[in-house]
Amino acid sequence: MHILSTLLAVAPVLVAAQNCPLQFDGRVPKSAKLGLLDTAKSPFNADYVKGAGLKWSEIAKFPKVSPPSLFDGSTYKAIEVTIDDTSIFAPSADNVQIGFRRAELMPTTNTGSDPSTTGIKTLHFSVRADTSRPLNYTHEYQLVFLESADYSTNQFALKTGSIIDDSDPRGHLKKNWLRLVGNVANDNGGKTLFEVPFGKDWHNFGLRLDFTKNTTQVFYSPSILPLIPVTPPIHNDISGQGQLHFGLLKKPIGKNFTDMPHQGYQEPGIHEGAIFGGIFEEDSTHGC
Ligand SMILES: *[C@@H]1O[C@H](CO)[C@@H](O)[C@H](O)[C@H]1NC(C)=O
Ligand SMILES: *[C@@H]1O[C@H](CO)[C@@H](O)[C@H](O)[C@H]1NC(C)=O
Ligand SMILES: *[C@@H]1O[C@H](CO)[C@@H](O)[C@H](O)[C@H]1NC(C)=O
Repeated sequence: MHILSTLLAVAPVLVAAQNCPLQFDGRVPKSAKLGLLDTAKSPFNADYVKGAGLKWSEIAKFPKVSPPSLFDGSTYKAIEVTIDDTSIFAPSADNVQIGFRRAELMPTTNTGSDPSTTGIKTLHFSVRADTSRPLNYTHEYQLVFLESADYSTNQFALKTGSIIDDSDPRGHLKKNWLRLVGNVANDNGGKTLFEVPFGKDWHNFGLRLDFTKNTTQVFYSPSILPLIPVTPPIHNDISGQGQLHFGLLKKPIGKNFTDMPHQGYQEPGIHEGAIFGGIFEEDSTHGC
């Protein structure tokens, strides 16, 4: 996608206020304390996805970020997800995911079979890098993704770094880009829907997900500019329901993975983070 010409050519159609019916709200009130994230009152699941034995209050931070993200305004605040050597997810004793370092926020009401993944929905989030906890672009990271209810695919994924199994030979030259890819397992094989350099300021996304038609349309803006459409609705298999993840899933270094969660190399001594804001989903059934 050549976005700059598109950015200039298309008039803003969405403004910076949230004014459609909400499916879920993952925005963090300004008054929230980190301890909230360990409780059932958190907007995100207190138990997932994180290193064994860690609490979300130990993983997340509320960094001072100016300006606030597009949809956080003066009411909500940014939330940072960090990973280090202890970020090893172990959903069961025989599934210790030493291939990954990961921590991902999952909206509480998005159970995997709820209406977040039916009808026509618009997912909003903003993301920015933390220059004091830089990522290592030798690795691939997933920052935001929808994982199907049967765990067989990601219907879309926002990635950065050195993307593994990249069919695009230019990919390794764009290591520090954000790249939104479509369904990674079906016939479009993780086709790039949109990409943009991963700079220091906010990157704001709106993903219009039409589950009735298997299409994904990308809205985007940098900094605090209003969102604009940067793609038409693109055919993308978003069937299979599932759950949304916001955070860092750092993939290992290696070749010919047969079981990536449990294989490959992860360097020790890491302190990495990514900052999120304005996470919510709107019901767009009535064109909203
Ligand atoms: C979306 O695509 C999948 C895979 O081709 C298909 O099984 C499903 O029925 C499609 N859904 C719609 C609403 O077209
Ligand atoms: C990985 O697979 C490729 C293609 O099948 C093969 O050429 C290469 O030797 C393999 N590398 C390793 C380390 O097994
Ligand atoms: C980045 O990751 C590679 C592979 O894990 C590692 O060899 C290298 O030291 C890392 N670079 C930095 C700056 O941490």
